[in-house]
Amino acid sequence: MQTKGDFARFNYVAIFFHWIVAALILANILIAWQFSWVQGPMRLLAFQAHKSIGITVLLLSVLRILWRAVSTLPPFPETMRSWEKEASKIVEKGFYFIMLALPLSGWAIVSTSDLGVPTILYGVVHWPDIPVISTLPIDWKLRAYGTSVDAHHLLAKITYALVAFHVLAALRHQFIKRDYVLARMIPSLAPRPVDLRE
Ligand code: HEM
Ligand code: HEM
Repeated sequence: MQTKGDFARFNYVAIFFHWIVAALILANILIAWQFSWVQGPMRLLAFQAHKSIGITVLLLSVLRILWRAVSTLPPFPETMRSWEKEASKIVEKGFYFIMLALPLSGWAIVSTSDLGVPTILYGVVHWPDIPVISTLPIDWKLRAYGTSVDAHHLLAKITYALVAFHVLAALRHQFIKRDYVLARMIPSLAPRPVDLRE
């Protein structure tokens, strides 16, 4: 029998952070995939949009972490086996790392690039380079640039793997196990109280 506790959901602030940050990360990946071919003024626009969205993810993620630290998490449903709970916790930690490290490594790229293109968030707010590393001697800066690009590319690949695993797990819960894990993040999918009766 399902009990009410099985449908405990994340609070609305957590749900808001989850979906807005997920949408921004996916949008930023789609924009980045255009870098290899887009040219001219559109290239500048694509990079500025990518940087603006990435810094937004960074700022929202800091707020999200603070919110998560002070709010209560819903218990895992009883239908989840212990290995599923452990896998879920590892992926969550991975995502929190990515949500900070991916934008930070991108910010490090533009802070050490010798192109010197300023970062103007949404064409309005001037976003500074990271202090200290942007003023390193030229050979150190070149090395830091290479490391930042490598790190950003590697972190992007880790993101693809985490997203694939996370989405497949959510779909498996929804359509194979049918245990309402997805409803924890999309409350409208939860059964109405009448469905909770045996
Ligand atoms: C949500 C956050 C972000 C995501 C998901 C993301 C994703 C990506 C991806 C997938 C690439 C292409 C990697 C490849 O070619 O394999 C890329 C490249 C790049 N990103 Fe980001 N990024 C994010 C944040 C940022 C931020 C905050 C900045 C700068 C402020 C930035 C600057 C760049 C730059 C300059 C490149 C081109 C690097 C190169 O290949 O030379 N990114 N990003
Ligand atoms: C880049 C995209 C995504 C990121 C970074 C992400 C990240 C996270 C994180 C960190 C959590 C833990 C809860 C929290 O702290 O807010 C979570 C939970 C969850 N996510 Fe995502 N997510 C993404 C996309 C998706 C998508 C596309 C789906 C649905 C198909 C999804 C479904 C869920 C569900 C159902 C939970 C709740 C799991 C539980 O019961 O603990 N997520 N996600």
